[in-house]
Amino acid sequence: MAACPEIDSLDSRFYQPADEFFGSYSHVGLTYDDVTLATLYSEVLPRDTQLEVALADGLRLNIPAISSDMDTVTSSRMAIAIALNGGLGLIHYNMLEREQLSEVSRVKNHVHGLIQEPIKAGPDQLIGDVLALIEKRRFAFSTFPVVDAEGRLIGLLPGHVVKQRYAKRKVVEALTPRAQVHTILKQELTADPIARADRFFTDHPGIHKLLVVDDQDRLHGLFTMSDVERITQERNAQFKPARDEHFRLLCGAAVSATRNAFGELDRERILAHVGALVDRGLDVVAVSTAHGHSRGVGDTVRMLREAFPRLPIIAGNVTSAAGVAFLADSGANVVKVGQGPGSICTTRIVAGVGIPQLTALYVASRAARAKGVTIIADGGITKSGDIVKALTLAQAVICGGLFAGCPEAPGEILEISGKLYKQYRGMGSMAAMKAGSAARYGHASEPTRKVAPEGVEALKEVSGSVDSVLAQLIGGIQSGMGYIGAANLAQLREKARYIRVSPAGQREASPHDVVGLKTGV
Ligand code: XMP
Repeated sequence: MAACPEIDSLDSRFYQPADEFFGSYSHVGLTYDDVTLATLYSEVLPRDTQLEVALADGLRLNIPAISSDMDTVTSSRMAIAIALNGGLGLIHYNMLEREQLSEVSRVKNHVHGLIQEPIKAGPDQLIGDVLALIEKRRFAFSTFPVVDAEGRLIGLLPGHVVKQRYAKRKVVEALTPRAQVHTILKQELTADPIARADRFFTDHPGIHKLLVVDDQDRLHGLFTMSDVERITQERNAQFKPARDEHFRLLCGAAVSATRNAFGELDRERILAHVGALVDRGLDVVAVSTAHGHSRGVGDTVRMLREAFPRLPIIAGNVTSAAGVAFLADSGANVVKVGQGPGSICTTRIVAGVGIPQLTALYVASRAARAKGVTIIADGGITKSGDIVKALTLAQAVICGGLFAGCPEAPGEILEISGKLYKQYRGMGSMAAMKAGSAARYGHASEPTRKVAPEGVEALKEVSGSVDSVLAQLIGGIQSGMGYIGAANLAQLREKARYIRVSPAGQREASPHDVVGLKTGV
Protein backbone atom coordinates (compact mmCIF):
# COMPACT_ATOMS: atom_id res chain seq x y z
CA MET A 1 0.00 0.00 0.00
CA ALA A 2 1.44 3.39 -1.00
CA ALA A 3 2.09 5.80 1.90
CA CYS A 4 -0.27 8.74 1.94
CA PRO A 5 1.11 11.59 4.08
CA GLU A 6 -2.15 13.52 3.91
CA ILE A 7 -4.07 10.68 5.48
CA ASP A 8 -1.41 10.05 8.14
CA SER A 9 -1.30 13.72 9.10
CA LEU A 10 -5.09 13.79 9.47
CA ASP A 11 -4.91 11.08 12.10
CA SER A 12 -1.94 12.58 13.90
CA ARG A 13 -3.61 16.02 14.00
CA PHE A 14 -6.71 14.66 15.73
CA TYR A 15 -5.45 11.61 17.64
CA GLN A 16 -2.40 12.63 19.61
CA PRO A 17 0.21 10.81 21.68
CA ALA A 18 0.24 11.49 25.42
CA ASP A 19 2.89 14.25 25.52
CA GLU A 20 1.22 16.31 22.80
CA PHE A 21 -2.30 15.66 23.98
CA PHE A 22 -1.86 16.35 27.70
CA GLY A 23 0.57 19.16 26.88
CA SER A 24 -2.19 20.91 24.95
CA TYR A 25 -4.59 20.52 27.92
CA SER A 26 -2.24 21.75 30.62
CA HIS A 27 -4.88 24.27 31.74
CA VAL A 28 -7.60 21.69 32.44
CA GLY A 29 -7.88 18.59 34.61
CA LEU A 30 -9.10 15.59 32.64
CA THR A 31 -10.43 12.28 33.81
CA TYR A 32 -11.44 8.99 32.23
CA ASP A 33 -14.73 10.01 30.62
CA ASP A 34 -13.22 13.26 29.23
CA VAL A 35 -11.05 11.29 26.84
CA THR A 36 -11.29 8.39 24.44
CA LEU A 37 -8.58 6.33 22.76
CA ALA A 38 -8.25 6.11 18.99
CA THR A 39 -8.27 2.69 17.36
CA LEU A 40 -5.13 1.80 15.42
CA TYR A 41 -4.11 -0.77 12.82
CA SER A 42 -3.90 -4.12 14.63
CA GLU A 43 -2.61 -7.61 14.07
CA VAL A 44 -3.27 -8.46 17.70
CA LEU A 45 -6.16 -10.66 18.76
CA PRO A 46 -7.52 -9.73 22.20
CA ARG A 47 -7.08 -13.28 23.50
CA ASP A 48 -3.37 -13.20 22.61
CA THR A 49 -2.56 -10.05 24.56
CA GLN A 50 -0.16 -10.36 27.51
CA LEU A 51 -0.98 -8.59 30.76
CA GLU A 52 2.09 -9.29 32.93
CA VAL A 53 3.70 -6.36 34.64
CA ALA A 54 6.81 -5.92 36.78
CA LEU A 55 6.01 -3.28 39.38
CA ALA A 56 9.40 -3.56 41.07
CA ASP A 57 12.31 -5.97 41.35
CA GLY A 58 10.71 -9.02 42.94
CA LEU A 59 7.13 -7.85 42.37
CA ARG A 60 5.65 -9.22 39.16
CA LEU A 61 1.90 -9.57 38.58
CA ASN A 62 0.19 -11.59 35.87
CA ILE A 63 -2.64 -9.08 35.57
CA PRO A 64 -2.31 -5.37 36.40
CA ALA A 65 -5.08 -5.32 39.02
CA ILE A 66 -4.80 -4.64 42.74
CA SER A 67 -7.57 -4.61 45.33
CA SER A 68 -7.65 -1.54 47.51
CA ASP A 69 -6.40 -1.51 51.11
CA MET A 70 -9.84 -0.63 52.48
CA ASP A 71 -11.65 -2.31 55.36
CA THR A 72 -14.68 -3.08 53.18
CA VAL A 73 -12.55 -4.45 50.31
CA THR A 74 -9.39 -6.39 51.16
CA SER A 75 -8.78 -8.88 53.90
CA SER A 76 -7.29 -12.33 53.31
CA ARG A 77 -10.26 -13.74 51.41
CA MET A 78 -10.17 -10.98 48.79
CA ALA A 79 -6.35 -11.08 48.62
CA ILE A 80 -6.44 -14.84 47.94
CA ALA A 81 -9.09 -14.45 45.23
CA ILE A 82 -7.23 -11.62 43.48
CA ALA A 83 -3.84 -13.37 43.67
CA LEU A 84 -5.36 -16.60 42.30
CA ASN A 85 -6.37 -14.53 39.27
CA GLY A 86 -2.86 -13.13 38.86
CA GLY A 87 -3.25 -9.80 40.69
CA LEU A 88 -2.47 -8.54 44.19
CA GLY A 89 -4.50 -7.73 47.30
CA LEU A 90 -3.36 -5.11 49.79
CA ILE A 91 -4.57 -6.13 53.25
CA HIS A 92 -6.02 -3.05 54.96
CA TYR A 93 -4.77 -1.79 58.33
CA ASN A 94 -8.04 -1.05 60.12
CA MET A 95 -7.42 -3.97 62.44
CA LEU A 96 -5.06 -4.88 65.25
CA GLU A 97 -1.49 -5.42 64.09
CA ARG A 98 -1.60 -9.07 65.16
CA GLU A 99 -4.77 -9.54 63.12
CA GLN A 100 -3.07 -8.10 60.06
CA LEU A 101 -0.23 -10.59 60.61
CA SER A 102 -2.70 -13.49 60.65
CA GLU A 103 -4.43 -12.18 57.55
CA VAL A 104 -1.12 -12.12 55.69
CA SER A 105 -0.32 -15.63 56.94
CA ARG A 106 -3.67 -16.86 55.66
CA VAL A 107 -2.84 -15.65 52.16
CA LYS A 108 0.74 -16.90 52.20
CA ASN A 109 -0.32 -20.34 53.47
CA HIS A 110 -3.16 -20.78 51.02
CA VAL A 111 -2.70 -23.96 48.94
CA HIS A 112 0.93 -24.62 49.49
CA GLY A 113 2.40 -26.83 46.85
CA LEU A 114 4.23 -28.48 49.73
CA ILE A 115 2.70 -28.01 53.16
CA GLN A 116 5.91 -27.50 55.08
CA GLU A 117 4.46 -27.67 58.56
CA PRO A 118 1.51 -30.04 58.36
CA ILE A 119 -0.73 -30.30 61.40
CA LYS A 120 0.25 -33.52 63.17
CA ALA A 121 -1.39 -35.87 65.65
CA GLY A 122 0.34 -37.70 68.51
CA PRO A 123 -0.07 -41.48 68.95
CA ASP A 124 -1.58 -41.18 72.43
CA GLN A 125 -4.10 -38.47 71.58
CA LEU A 126 -7.75 -39.49 71.50
CA ILE A 127 -9.57 -39.24 68.19
CA GLY A 128 -12.08 -37.09 70.11
CA ASP A 129 -9.23 -34.58 70.75
CA VAL A 130 -8.46 -34.51 67.04
CA LEU A 131 -12.14 -33.86 66.28
CA ALA A 132 -12.18 -31.02 68.81
CA LEU A 133 -9.09 -29.49 67.17
CA ILE A 134 -10.72 -29.66 63.73
CA GLU A 135 -13.79 -27.92 65.15
CA LYS A 136 -11.80 -25.28 67.03
CA ARG A 137 -9.38 -24.38 64.22
CA ARG A 138 -12.03 -24.92 61.50
CA PHE A 139 -9.79 -27.24 59.48
CA ALA A 140 -11.21 -28.24 56.11
CA PHE A 141 -9.25 -31.53 56.19
CA SER A 142 -9.21 -34.53 58.53
CA THR A 143 -6.14 -36.61 57.59
CA PHE A 144 -3.11 -36.11 59.86
CA PRO A 145 0.44 -37.47 59.88
CA VAL A 146 1.23 -39.05 63.25
CA VAL A 147 4.68 -38.46 64.75
CA ASP A 148 6.47 -39.41 67.96
CA ALA A 149 8.04 -36.97 70.42
CA GLU A 150 11.17 -36.64 68.20
CA GLY A 151 9.08 -35.79 65.13
CA ARG A 152 9.59 -39.24 63.56
CA LEU A 153 6.80 -40.57 61.39
CA ILE A 154 4.69 -43.31 62.98
CA GLY A 155 1.82 -43.43 60.52
CA LEU A 156 -1.07 -41.53 58.97
CA LEU A 157 -4.45 -40.97 60.60
CA PRO A 158 -6.87 -41.23 57.66
CA GLY A 159 -9.96 -39.01 57.48
CA HIS A 160 -12.37 -41.97 57.43
CA VAL A 161 -11.51 -42.92 61.04
CA VAL A 162 -11.71 -39.36 62.37
CA LYS A 163 -15.33 -39.87 63.39
CA GLN A 164 -17.35 -39.35 66.53
CA ARG A 165 -17.97 -43.10 66.88
CA TYR A 166 -14.20 -43.64 67.40
CA ALA A 167 -13.82 -40.61 69.69
CA LYS A 168 -12.65 -42.65 72.68
CA ARG A 169 -9.99 -44.58 70.77
CA LYS A 170 -6.35 -43.54 70.73
CA VAL A 171 -4.84 -42.36 67.46
CA VAL A 172 -2.33 -45.23 67.58
CA GLU A 173 -5.18 -47.76 67.43
CA ALA A 174 -6.65 -46.31 64.22
CA LEU A 175 -3.69 -45.10 62.17
CA THR A 176 -2.35 -46.54 58.95
CA PRO A 177 1.08 -47.88 60.03
CA ARG A 178 4.34 -46.32 58.84
CA ALA A 179 5.16 -49.21 56.49
CA GLN A 180 2.01 -48.52 54.46
CA VAL A 181 2.46 -44.74 54.27
CA HIS A 182 3.92 -43.33 51.04
CA THR A 183 6.91 -41.06 51.58
CA ILE A 184 9.64 -39.36 49.62
CA LEU A 185 13.05 -38.35 50.91
CA LYS A 186 13.54 -34.61 51.26
CA GLN A 187 16.76 -34.75 49.23
CA GLU A 188 14.90 -36.39 46.34
CA LEU A 189 12.81 -33.27 45.80
CA THR A 190 14.12 -31.67 42.68
CA ALA A 191 13.99 -28.03 41.58
CA ASP A 192 10.35 -28.62 40.65
CA PRO A 193 8.79 -30.42 43.64
CA ILE A 194 5.26 -30.06 42.25
CA ALA A 195 6.18 -31.92 39.06
CA ARG A 196 7.79 -34.64 41.19
CA ALA A 197 4.69 -34.98 43.38
CA ASP A 198 2.43 -34.89 40.32
CA ARG A 199 4.37 -37.80 38.81
CA PHE A 200 4.09 -39.73 42.08
CA PHE A 201 0.29 -39.36 42.21
CA THR A 202 0.02 -40.52 38.56
CA ASP A 203 2.17 -43.57 39.34
CA HIS A 204 0.17 -44.47 42.48
CA PRO A 205 -3.56 -44.55 41.67
CA GLY A 206 -5.77 -44.00 44.72
CA ILE A 207 -3.03 -42.43 46.87
CA HIS A 208 -3.83 -38.79 47.78
CA LYS A 209 -1.10 -37.93 50.29
CA LEU A 210 2.67 -38.01 49.94
CA LEU A 211 4.78 -37.28 53.03
CA VAL A 212 8.28 -35.83 52.94
CA VAL A 213 10.81 -37.24 55.42
CA ASP A 214 14.56 -36.96 56.07
CA ASP A 215 16.95 -39.89 56.42
CA GLN A 216 16.07 -40.09 60.14
CA ASP A 217 12.41 -40.49 59.11
CA ARG A 218 11.50 -37.11 60.61
CA LEU A 219 8.52 -35.45 58.95
CA HIS A 220 9.30 -32.39 56.77
CA GLY A 221 6.18 -31.87 54.74
CA LEU A 222 3.10 -33.13 53.01
CA PHE A 223 1.81 -33.02 49.44
CA THR A 224 -1.89 -33.49 48.83
CA MET A 225 -3.11 -34.52 45.40
CA SER A 226 -5.80 -31.82 45.26
CA ASP A 227 -3.27 -29.00 45.88
CA VAL A 228 -0.86 -30.45 43.35
CA GLU A 229 -3.63 -30.83 40.76
CA ARG A 230 -4.77 -27.25 41.30
CA ILE A 231 -1.26 -25.90 40.81
CA THR A 232 -0.66 -28.09 37.76
CA GLN A 233 -3.90 -26.83 36.18
CA GLU A 234 -2.98 -23.23 36.97
CA ARG A 235 0.17 -23.64 34.92
CA ASN A 236 -1.97 -24.09 31.81
CA ALA A 237 -4.29 -21.13 32.47
CA GLN A 238 -3.69 -17.92 30.49
CA PHE A 239 -3.51 -15.77 33.61
CA LYS A 240 -1.65 -17.70 36.22
CA PRO A 241 -1.93 -16.95 39.92
CA ALA A 242 0.58 -14.43 41.22
CA ARG A 243 2.99 -16.51 43.29
CA ASP A 244 6.37 -16.07 44.96
CA GLU A 245 9.32 -18.35 44.28
CA HIS A 246 8.00 -20.86 46.85
CA PHE A 247 4.65 -21.14 44.98
CA ARG A 248 2.90 -19.12 47.68
CA LEU A 249 0.35 -16.51 46.63
CA LEU A 250 1.58 -12.93 46.57
CA CYS A 251 0.30 -10.70 49.33
CA GLY A 252 0.67 -7.02 50.15
CA ALA A 253 -0.28 -5.13 53.28
CA ALA A 254 -0.83 -1.47 53.99
CA VAL A 255 0.62 0.47 56.91
CA SER A 256 0.25 4.11 57.81
CA ALA A 257 2.72 6.65 59.13
CA THR A 258 1.65 5.88 62.73
CA ARG A 259 2.47 8.50 65.35
CA ASN A 260 3.09 7.98 69.07
CA ALA A 261 1.47 9.85 71.97
CA PHE A 262 3.92 12.76 71.41
CA GLY A 263 2.89 13.16 67.79
CA GLU A 264 6.23 11.77 66.52
CA LEU A 265 6.57 9.02 63.96
CA ASP A 266 6.37 5.76 65.90
CA ARG A 267 9.53 4.31 64.34
CA GLU A 268 9.92 1.32 66.63
CA ARG A 269 6.35 0.21 66.24
CA ILE A 270 6.31 0.57 62.44
CA LEU A 271 9.63 -1.27 62.06
CA ALA A 272 8.60 -4.09 64.41
CA HIS A 273 5.29 -4.55 62.64
CA VAL A 274 6.70 -4.50 59.10
CA GLY A 275 9.47 -6.87 60.27
CA ALA A 276 6.82 -9.28 61.53
CA LEU A 277 4.90 -8.96 58.24
CA VAL A 278 8.08 -9.76 56.31
CA ASP A 279 8.64 -12.80 58.55
CA ARG A 280 5.19 -14.00 57.50
CA GLY A 281 6.26 -13.79 53.85
CA LEU A 282 4.86 -10.36 52.90
CA ASP A 283 5.79 -9.50 49.30
CA VAL A 284 5.18 -5.76 49.32
CA VAL A 285 4.33 -3.11 51.90
CA ALA A 286 2.18 -0.11 51.00
CA VAL A 287 2.65 3.11 52.97
CA SER A 288 -0.85 4.23 52.28
CA THR A 289 -2.04 7.71 53.15
CA ALA A 290 -4.16 10.45 51.63
CA HIS A 291 -1.16 12.82 51.32
CA GLY A 292 2.02 11.02 50.34
CA HIS A 293 4.02 14.15 49.56
CA SER A 294 4.48 14.83 53.25
CA ARG A 295 7.26 14.55 55.79
CA GLY A 296 5.76 11.69 57.78
CA VAL A 297 5.32 9.50 54.71
CA GLY A 298 8.78 10.35 53.35
CA ASP A 299 10.35 9.52 56.74
CA THR A 300 8.41 6.25 56.96
CA VAL A 301 9.43 5.15 53.47
CA ARG A 302 13.08 6.09 54.10
CA MET A 303 13.14 4.19 57.37
CA LEU A 304 11.59 1.08 55.77
CA ARG A 305 13.95 1.24 52.82
CA GLU A 306 16.96 1.30 55.18
CA ALA A 307 15.62 -1.52 57.33
CA PHE A 308 14.41 -3.73 54.46
CA PRO A 309 16.61 -2.99 51.43
CA ARG A 310 15.00 -5.65 49.21
CA LEU A 311 11.34 -5.24 50.19
CA PRO A 312 9.25 -3.65 47.42
CA ILE A 313 7.58 -0.51 48.79
CA ILE A 314 4.44 1.12 47.42
CA ALA A 315 3.80 4.64 48.71
CA GLY A 316 1.22 7.34 48.17
CA ASN A 317 -1.00 8.97 47.37
CA VAL A 318 0.22 11.83 45.23
CA THR A 319 -0.91 13.68 42.11
CA SER A 320 2.16 15.76 41.23
CA ALA A 321 5.54 15.18 39.62
CA ALA A 322 7.22 16.57 42.76
CA GLY A 323 5.25 14.08 44.86
CA VAL A 324 6.40 11.14 42.72
CA ALA A 325 10.03 12.34 42.83
CA PHE A 326 9.84 12.81 46.62
CA LEU A 327 8.60 9.28 47.24
CA ALA A 328 11.03 7.78 44.72
CA ASP A 329 13.93 9.63 46.39
CA SER A 330 12.71 8.38 49.77
CA GLY A 331 13.01 4.79 48.53
CA ALA A 332 9.60 3.82 47.14
CA ASN A 333 9.57 1.51 44.10
CA VAL A 334 5.94 2.09 43.22
CA VAL A 335 3.90 5.26 43.68
CA LYS A 336 0.11 5.36 44.12
CA VAL A 337 -1.55 8.15 42.21
CA GLY A 338 -4.99 9.51 43.04
CA GLN A 339 -6.41 12.16 45.34
CA GLY A 340 -10.17 12.35 45.40
CA PRO A 341 -11.22 10.24 42.37
CA GLY A 342 -12.57 7.33 44.43
CA SER A 343 -16.25 6.46 44.34
CA ILE A 344 -16.59 7.02 48.12
CA CYS A 345 -14.18 10.00 48.32
CA THR A 346 -15.15 13.51 49.30
CA THR A 347 -11.64 14.96 49.59
CA ARG A 348 -12.20 17.33 46.69
CA ILE A 349 -15.46 18.57 48.18
CA VAL A 350 -14.23 18.78 51.78
CA ALA A 351 -10.67 19.99 51.26
CA GLY A 352 -10.97 21.55 47.81
CA VAL A 353 -7.90 19.67 46.58
CA GLY A 354 -7.18 16.79 44.21
CA ILE A 355 -6.66 16.40 40.50
CA PRO A 356 -8.84 14.65 37.91
CA GLN A 357 -7.29 11.27 37.46
CA LEU A 358 -6.03 11.14 33.87
CA THR A 359 -4.19 14.45 34.15
CA ALA A 360 -2.70 13.33 37.47
CA LEU A 361 -1.61 10.05 35.88
CA TYR A 362 0.02 11.77 32.94
CA VAL A 363 2.03 14.15 35.15
CA ALA A 364 2.98 11.33 37.54
CA SER A 365 3.92 8.95 34.72
CA ARG A 366 6.49 11.35 33.28
CA ALA A 367 8.07 11.95 36.70
CA ALA A 368 8.06 8.19 37.37
CA ARG A 369 9.83 7.53 34.09
CA ALA A 370 12.52 10.06 34.98
CA LYS A 371 12.95 8.52 38.43
CA GLY A 372 12.84 4.86 37.39
CA VAL A 373 9.77 3.94 39.44
CA THR A 374 6.34 2.65 38.44
CA ILE A 375 2.91 4.11 39.21
CA ILE A 376 -0.49 2.69 40.06
CA ALA A 377 -3.76 4.44 39.20
CA ASP A 378 -5.75 4.43 42.44
CA GLY A 379 -9.48 5.19 42.48
CA GLY A 380 -12.24 6.34 40.17
CA ILE A 381 -12.34 3.20 38.03
CA THR A 382 -15.89 2.14 37.28
CA LYS A 383 -15.53 0.10 34.07
CA SER A 384 -12.95 -1.82 32.05
CA GLY A 385 -12.59 1.05 29.56
CA ASP A 386 -11.30 3.25 32.41
CA ILE A 387 -8.66 0.60 33.13
CA VAL A 388 -7.51 0.59 29.51
CA LYS A 389 -7.16 4.39 29.64
CA ALA A 390 -5.35 4.22 33.01
CA LEU A 391 -2.93 1.58 31.68
CA THR A 392 -1.85 3.88 28.86
CA LEU A 393 -0.07 5.86 31.62
CA ALA A 394 0.20 3.63 34.70
CA GLN A 395 1.58 0.11 35.18
CA ALA A 396 -1.43 -1.12 37.19
CA VAL A 397 -4.72 -0.05 38.74
CA ILE A 398 -6.18 -0.21 42.24
CA CYS A 399 -9.91 -0.79 42.51
CA GLY A 400 -12.10 -0.47 45.57
CA GLY A 401 -15.71 -0.05 44.49
CA LEU A 402 -15.45 -2.59 41.66
CA PHE A 403 -14.61 -5.36 44.16
CA ALA A 404 -16.62 -4.17 47.18
CA GLY A 405 -19.80 -5.96 46.08
CA CYS A 406 -18.06 -9.34 45.66
CA PRO A 407 -18.76 -12.09 48.20
CA GLU A 408 -15.00 -12.16 48.91
CA ALA A 409 -15.06 -8.59 50.30
CA PRO A 410 -15.39 -8.33 54.10
CA GLY A 411 -18.82 -7.58 55.53
CA GLU A 412 -22.31 -8.93 55.71
CA ILE A 413 -24.81 -9.00 52.86
CA LEU A 414 -27.85 -6.82 53.61
CA GLU A 415 -31.24 -7.19 52.03
CA ILE A 416 -33.12 -3.97 51.35
CA SER A 417 -36.44 -4.08 49.48
CA GLY A 418 -35.57 -7.42 47.94
CA LYS A 419 -32.14 -6.32 46.70
CA LEU A 420 -28.82 -7.48 48.12
CA TYR A 421 -26.12 -5.02 49.16
CA LYS A 422 -22.74 -4.90 50.89
CA GLN A 423 -21.39 -2.01 52.88
CA TYR A 424 -18.68 0.07 51.17
CA ARG A 425 -17.13 2.98 53.02
CA GLY A 426 -14.29 5.42 52.50
CA MET A 427 -11.29 4.95 54.79
CA GLY A 428 -11.71 8.66 55.53
CA SER A 429 -15.36 8.25 56.52
CA MET A 430 -16.09 8.88 60.20
CA ALA A 431 -16.92 5.22 60.87
CA ALA A 432 -13.70 3.94 59.26
CA MET A 433 -11.56 6.55 61.03
CA LYS A 434 -13.08 5.53 64.36
CA ALA A 435 -12.17 1.95 63.47
CA GLY A 436 -8.53 2.99 63.06
CA SER A 437 -7.77 4.67 59.74
CA ALA A 438 -7.59 8.27 61.02
CA ALA A 439 -3.78 8.34 60.67
CA ARG A 440 -4.19 7.90 56.91
CA TYR A 441 -5.85 11.32 56.83
CA GLY A 442 -3.34 12.93 59.20
CA HIS A 443 -5.69 12.89 62.20
CA ALA A 444 -5.03 11.56 65.70
CA SER A 445 -5.62 7.83 65.93
CA GLU A 446 -8.45 8.46 68.42
CA PRO A 447 -10.55 10.94 66.46
CA THR A 448 -12.41 12.25 69.50
CA ARG A 449 -11.65 15.77 68.29
CA LYS A 450 -14.01 17.07 65.69
CA VAL A 451 -12.53 16.17 62.30
CA ALA A 452 -14.00 16.50 58.85
CA PRO A 453 -14.53 13.12 57.20
CA GLU A 454 -13.23 12.83 53.63
CA GLY A 455 -15.26 9.84 52.62
CA VAL A 456 -18.78 8.50 52.77
CA GLU A 457 -20.40 5.32 54.02
CA ALA A 458 -22.31 3.69 51.22
CA LEU A 459 -23.67 0.44 49.86
CA LYS A 460 -22.75 -1.56 46.77
CA GLU A 461 -25.12 -3.95 45.12
CA VAL A 462 -23.83 -7.49 45.60
CA SER A 463 -21.97 -8.55 42.47
CA GLY A 464 -20.63 -11.85 41.19
CA SER A 465 -17.46 -13.41 42.56
CA VAL A 466 -14.01 -11.88 42.10
CA ASP A 467 -13.42 -14.49 39.36
CA SER A 468 -16.41 -13.28 37.37
CA VAL A 469 -15.77 -9.55 37.93
CA LEU A 470 -12.14 -9.97 36.88
CA ALA A 471 -13.10 -12.07 33.87
CA GLN A 472 -15.22 -9.13 32.63
CA LEU A 473 -12.53 -6.57 33.37
CA ILE A 474 -9.75 -8.60 31.77
CA GLY A 475 -11.92 -9.24 28.72
CA GLY A 476 -12.40 -5.48 28.38
CA ILE A 477 -8.69 -4.71 28.79
CA GLN A 478 -7.77 -7.31 26.17
CA SER A 479 -10.40 -5.97 23.83
CA GLY A 480 -9.02 -2.42 24.19
CA MET A 481 -5.50 -3.67 23.51
CA GLY A 482 -6.74 -5.48 20.40
CA TYR A 483 -8.26 -2.22 19.06
CA ILE A 484 -4.98 -0.41 19.67
CA GLY A 485 -2.78 -3.18 18.27
CA ALA A 486 -0.95 -3.56 21.58
CA ALA A 487 0.31 -7.07 22.29
CA ASN A 488 1.41 -6.14 25.82
CA LEU A 489 1.13 -3.34 28.35
CA ALA A 490 4.36 -1.63 27.28
CA GLN A 491 2.99 -1.37 23.72
CA LEU A 492 -0.29 -0.03 25.08
CA ARG A 493 1.55 2.82 26.81
CA GLU A 494 3.61 3.52 23.71
CA LYS A 495 0.84 3.36 21.10
CA ALA A 496 -2.07 5.11 22.84
CA ARG A 497 -3.53 8.13 21.00
CA TYR A 498 -6.03 10.38 22.77
CA ILE A 499 -8.80 12.77 21.87
CA ARG A 500 -11.00 14.93 24.12
CA VAL A 501 -14.67 14.00 24.19
CA SER A 502 -17.48 16.56 24.20
CA PRO A 503 -20.47 16.17 26.61
CA ALA A 504 -22.52 14.92 23.64
CA GLY A 505 -19.70 12.49 22.82
CA GLN A 506 -19.82 11.19 26.41
CA ARG A 507 -23.57 10.61 26.13
CA GLU A 508 -23.03 8.84 22.82
CA ALA A 509 -20.51 6.50 24.50
CA SER A 510 -23.13 4.94 26.79
CA PRO A 511 -26.19 3.02 25.65
CA HIS A 512 -28.85 5.54 24.63
CA ASP A 513 -32.30 5.70 23.11
CA VAL A 514 -33.15 2.18 24.18
CA VAL A 515 -35.24 0.71 26.98
CA GLY A 516 -34.80 -2.36 29.14
CA LEU A 517 -31.02 -2.30 29.40
CA LYS A 518 -29.09 -5.44 30.33
CA THR A 519 -25.42 -4.67 30.82
CA GLY A 520 -24.20 -8.26 30.81
CA VAL A 521 -21.85 -7.46 33.72
P1 XMP B 1 -12.82 3.42 44.00
O1 XMP B 1 -13.24 4.47 43.02
O2 XMP B 1 -12.16 2.26 43.36
O3 XMP B 1 -11.72 4.13 44.90
O4 XMP B 1 -13.96 3.02 44.88
C1 XMP B 1 -10.98 3.47 45.88
C2 XMP B 1 -9.83 4.35 46.35
O5 XMP B 1 -10.34 5.54 47.01
C3 XMP B 1 -9.38 5.99 47.97
N1 XMP B 1 -10.11 6.20 49.23
C4 XMP B 1 -10.53 7.38 49.68
N2 XMP B 1 -10.32 8.64 49.21
N3 XMP B 1 -11.62 9.49 51.01
C5 XMP B 1 -10.87 9.70 49.89
O6 XMP B 1 -10.71 10.85 49.48
C6 XMP B 1 -11.85 8.26 51.53
O7 XMP B 1 -12.55 8.10 52.54
C7 XMP B 1 -11.27 7.15 50.82
N4 XMP B 1 -11.26 5.82 51.08
C8 XMP B 1 -10.55 5.26 50.06
C9 XMP B 1 -8.31 4.95 48.07
O8 XMP B 1 -7.19 5.42 47.35
C10 XMP B 1 -8.97 3.74 47.41
O9 XMP B 1 -8.03 2.82 46.86
